[in-house]
Amino acid sequence: MTKIAVFVGSLREKSYNKSLAKALESVKPEGMEFIYIDIAMPLYSEDSENAGMPKEVLEAKETVKTADGVLLVTPEYNRSIPGVMKNAIDWVSRPYGQTSFYRKPVGIVGASVTPSGTASAQGDLRRVMLFQDAKVLGQPEVYVALAGEVFDSEGSVISDRWMKNFREYMETFGAWVEQEK
Ligand code: FNR
Repeated sequence: MTKIAVFVGSLREKSYNKSLAKALESVKPEGMEFIYIDIAMPLYSEDSENAGMPKEVLEAKETVKTADGVLLVTPEYNRSIPGVMKNAIDWVSRPYGQTSFYRKPVGIVGASVTPSGTASAQGDLRRVMLFQDAKVLGQPEVYVALAGEVFDSEGSVISDRWMKNFREYMETFGAWVEQEK
């Protein structure tokens, strides 16, 4: 089984990014498993870390460490990474020198309601992941713009064109993760 640790950077119940993750999961290659990371972690501080990492952080670190790959599904807030996503990544990158993202194959995708489609947030995430010495998939890219026209109110994909893109993304991402094993 090929395990993928999935971070969805939104806590919103009807999040488009949750819908995006589910759509990608629905077309994942055979033998792949998505394991969703609970990103609702306490706010990071070095004092909390020194007092002992919270249980959910240790679990997330273990899931990432034992996964074959990571998928980051991000919204964009103020042209960058939402705080909850960055907070979870910061925790998983700790302790210093022991980031769980080290040499992990990482895919980055995202959805937003504006025409920019999270391009800026994804660019920032690439920079963060390169600092972890993770391997970041360059192409294809998935910038879901105007998400309200891509998903219905139940979160199902209503665009054939986007569904085709999602299928193509998962084929390439899956083959790349296998190759990097
Ligand atoms: C946004 N949104 C947004 N969208 C975008 O494309 N670029 C941006 O810079 C921002 N900035 C921004 C800031 C804040 C504080 C919020 C709350 C929202 C809109 C965003 O795309 C929209 O809320 C999405 O629905 C968020 O993703 P989820 O929660 O649906 O997954």
